[in-house]
Amino acid sequence: MMPKPLSKTTTALHQGLPPGLMPTLRMMPMPSDANIHGDVFGGWIMSQVDIAGAIPAARRANGRVATIAVNSFLFKHPVFVGDLLSFYAEVVRVGNTSITVNVEVYAERNRLEAETVKVTEATLTYVATSEDRKPRQIPPLKSLTTPAADTAY
Ligand SMILES: CC(C)(COP(=O)(O)OP(=O)(O)OC[C@H]1O[C@@H](n2cnc3c(N)ncnc32)[C@H](O)[C@@H]1OP(=O)(O)O)[C@@H](O)C(=O)NCCC(=O)NCCS
Repeated sequence: MMPKPLSKTTTALHQGLPPGLMPTLRMMPMPSDANIHGDVFGGWIMSQVDIAGAIPAARRANGRVATIAVNSFLFKHPVFVGDLLSFYAEVVRVGNTSITVNVEVYAERNRLEAETVKVTEATLTYVATSEDRKPRQIPPLKSLTTPAADTAY
């Protein structure tokens, strides 16, 4: 028997998200994350972006990392309470002790009407740190057995 096609609503829901990619993180801002107009605070978005970016960075570093720099941050469109946010984080550069990650954030809003908006783009740099919080060398890619071994970096 042929599988039933997804309903129109379910199919449309994901039309605007990057195809073939799994979000690193998904979050929905609550009223406490917004101002009185219902716009979500930039600082709340920044902290979620930092968390999302740290996930591939820590995998690639095979251990703890600390954020050393927010290289760029663009709040291109507002985020509203109830938006379903998808964070896509990708390692774009690996240095001696540092890892740079791009994070793109998409909001699905008015979800039954399938409106998807790319709201934020950022680049952050993380430093691999040792137990005593000092910078440590990034291990060679081929030594990794974690999911970071899938990356080009
Ligand atoms: C992270 C920390 C241990 C790094 O120590 P440090 O002595 O400052 O490090 P260094 O100057 O040797 O730089 C480490 C790496 O960061 C990079 N770096 C430094 N400043 C940078 C900047 N402004 N932008 C991008 N990369 C930067 C360096 O190029 C180096 O990378 P490389 O080894 O790949 O070439 C230290 O800065 C620290 O503890 N910072 C506070 C971290 C923190 O609390 N973050 C928030 C919570 S996670």
